[in-house]
Amino acid sequence: MPPIAFPERLYDRRGGAEPLVQMDELLQEMIAAGGPMPTEYALLNRTLRQLGDAVRARVISREDVLAYASDTTSRHLEGTMQARALGKKYGYSGDFEMIDAIYTLRTAPEPHLKRWDLYFHAQAAPNAVRNRKAYFHHLLHSHVAGRPKSALRVLNVASGPARDVREWVLDNPEQQVFFDCVDAEIHAIECAKKMCAPFADRVEFYHRNVLRFLPAKGYDLVWSAGLFDYLADRSFVFLLKALMAVTRLGGEVVVGNFSDFNPSRDYMELLGDWVLQHRTRDHLRELALQAGAAADSIEVQWEPEGVNLFLHIRR
Ligand SMILES: C[S@@+](CC[C@H](N)C(=O)[O-])C[C@H]1O[C@@H](n2cnc3c(N)ncnc32)[C@H](O)[C@@H]1O
Repeated sequence: MPPIAFPERLYDRRGGAEPLVQMDELLQEMIAAGGPMPTEYALLNRTLRQLGDAVRARVISREDVLAYASDTTSRHLEGTMQARALGKKYGYSGDFEMIDAIYTLRTAPEPHLKRWDLYFHAQAAPNAVRNRKAYFHHLLHSHVAGRPKSALRVLNVASGPARDVREWVLDNPEQQVFFDCVDAEIHAIECAKKMCAPFADRVEFYHRNVLRFLPAKGYDLVWSAGLFDYLADRSFVFLLKALMAVTRLGGEVVVGNFSDFNPSRDYMELLGDWVLQHRTRDHLRELALQAGAAADSIEVQWEPEGVNLFLHIRR
């Protein structure tokens, strides 16, 4: 196996390479041992944090760390969740396949790769993704409870694999809930259609870019998770306005966004090149005001990890 290709100039800076060298030593040790053990997660997290601090202090560039991460991953960790994130099969790390792999706790079958996937799934961020599916289900329950007789109309914006919709309908077959799902990725739509094939009468799919088109039937609940944290503020406000416009009076818009409290951020950004627009509760509130929401109609909640925030706007 040829040696790891460190960017040469890192060694030229005084002490600059140290956190990357430490990370490499640890990773090589763990790779040789067949992947990290749970007792080693804290050490790996701490080493990642130190690497992140070095990037934030501009001691090492993010590009150099990423070049190292891609090199090491393609040599030793092909087939893992980390490799999947770096691979960006559909153009970015958090595509529908990745999200579904998180929901289903997918792990590589090879034992020496599986341990890396178990480490991946133990992170706060994938936990938050799984929690947000439960959050959506709770939200649906509370909306159904609020209107026991009439049907509930739900718009699912950037619906991805629609596993959340499938599970809800399977668990609540008697409820009159109708979903319109929009996604810009045709493979996501095809996957989601298969996922929801048994109840095609309740779930309609639109293969569209939500920044250009939204079905405008009038919805009781508009839900979007895993999209707004990829949008710059301007697009965030533009889309939020559009979502509010297709929500019925008395209805609710709920938009997920990763918080600036994300203990997995260094892992995601430095080893997975998975970059999100992390936002604070105040920032989300401010963007909601810019979109025209009344101050007393806005609330920000979160799932148990505290990593995925949810901006609620009552109409
Ligand atoms: C991270 S996944 C989230 C999927 C789903 N909401 C979930 O949480 O399970 C993001 C999805 O957004 C879709 N997407 C990204 N930009 C979009 C756009 N402009 N219009 C519609 N869908 C978009 C992607 O194709 C992908 O399926």
